[in-house]
Amino acid sequence: MASASALPIIARKLVAPGKGILAADESIGTCGKRFQKYGIPETPEMRRKWRGLLFSTPGIEKGLSGVILFDETIRQETSEGEPFAEYLEGRGVLPGIKVDQKTEPLAGSPEEELTKGLEGLPERLREYVGFGAKFTKWRAVIRIKENLPTDACIEENARRMAAYAKESQRAGLVPVVEPEVLLDGVHTLVRSEEVIGKTLRAVFREVKREGCDLSGLILKSSMALPGKDSGATASPGEIAEATLRVLLSSVPKEVPGILFLSGGATPEEATERLNEIVKKGNAINAPWPLTFSYSRALQDPVLAAWRGKDENAPQAQAIFAERVAQTARVSEGRL
Ligand code: 13P
Repeated sequence: MASASALPIIARKLVAPGKGILAADESIGTCGKRFQKYGIPETPEMRRKWRGLLFSTPGIEKGLSGVILFDETIRQETSEGEPFAEYLEGRGVLPGIKVDQKTEPLAGSPEEELTKGLEGLPERLREYVGFGAKFTKWRAVIRIKENLPTDACIEENARRMAAYAKESQRAGLVPVVEPEVLLDGVHTLVRSEEVIGKTLRAVFREVKREGCDLSGLILKSSMALPGKDSGATASPGEIAEATLRVLLSSVPKEVPGILFLSGGATPEEATERLNEIVKKGNAINAPWPLTFSYSRALQDPVLAAWRGKDENAPQAQAIFAERVAQTARVSEGRL
């Protein structure tokens, strides 16, 4: 097990210059929805093949510091019989694991959700350490509507997230706290910035209250964006300004790095926006490295090329290698 002092070293490796993280931790249900689009059978073996295709792509270690796995995947192996976590680590890519489990409706506000997963967490973390995991992820979902999010939703999700972060650090695993403010809705960019700020302030208040080591923890955040159905558009420059403003006002500078999720943005949007955020962040000497932890924006074009067919694998890997290389360049503001 990693000692407490190893946490900041792992955290800094995860946000090393020119690198970011592949989120490949889709639950069986979410992965199934993506497979259905192409008629790919929703079996453990097809999910293993898909993840194996991604992880064995030549050259990805140059742009990926880590990969987030799902429970099923950390128990699976490459076609040569090597457990995925060991295989990734052997390539210099740190294996991580999603540890939150489903959500439950918030009492009194049925459109909102609370993330579950604290029950039995210490035991599960011990098992993941045995598989070679180095870091963990916990996602909470915050929805924006006219009267949402409620304070109760933000507060309880923040409290659970902080309790998870503390347990993860106790187990020697760097927690990645991900309070995702959803893109869905008709809200403005200003409202998105407000809600992200309120959420992050609650998360860091709770994280401090739990006594977590801020230097051994990573934030994964949404970018500030107008709602998907708002009809409004915002330029990458406006998005970058709003995103940096809210992070500067709510994230402690001791945090070693900030990752962004792609949240349903297209690969092109996710690329341009990150590029702008990093360029502007560098210009103002932002206190943290800013990089990516994308699932859809890295994987979607690759899945569309693969479609579950072995003969498409080389072409799919070539597309993935290029997506990783481009996103890694962008994480240094070099579009
Ligand atoms: P997206 O990049 O597709 O938003 O996924 C990131 C993630 O890890 C969501 O939990």
